[in-house]
Amino acid sequence: MTDKNPPERGLLISQIRNGTVIDHITAGEALNVLRILGIVGTTQERLSIATNVPSGKVGRKDIVKVENRELCQEEVDRIALIAPRATINIIRNYAVYEKMGVKIPELLRGVIHCPNPECISNTHEPIESRFAVNDGMLRCEYCDWRINRNIPEHII
Ligand code: CTP
Repeated sequence: MTDKNPPERGLLISQIRNGTVIDHITAGEALNVLRILGIVGTTQERLSIATNVPSGKVGRKDIVKVENRELCQEEVDRIALIAPRATINIIRNYAVYEKMGVKIPELLRGVIHCPNPECISNTHEPIESRFAVNDGMLRCEYCDWRINRNIPEHII
């Protein structure tokens, strides 16, 4: 008799020497995380990606490992929007040098593109978009436009 669902064993993706491991990403969001990191199309980055893998803590999760790169706070804040339970691990010489959670900021400046074509942030004025965050809902501080779903689509 063959076992159709053998237990999953071993490391799915290897440990990295230096860089960042973004762990506990909301299942299915890894590619949006890459977009936030500006990784699209042809890339020189050394990446490992796992999607929809079982996790003891969160059911299923995605993982992104980016070698030789440490994320800046702005990138971490953007990741929080689509993966509020993500853990950012800075790896140096194979050890976890720093581990931090992510937190959605109360005000997003220059992060979200306002869908309202009439909004002043969409004119040629040198004005950065400003969205207030409240309970998972984003509100444009200029035109009051509200966004409460498909948030990744609006990230600049
Ligand atoms: N990791 C890695 N390369 C290393 C060290 C760690 O890719 N040299 C990865 C691990 O595979 C894990 C994440 O970084 O996905 C965090 O590592 P660690 O804190 O050791 O794992 P856990 O204790 O499972 O993390 P947590 O408590 O956040 O679940």
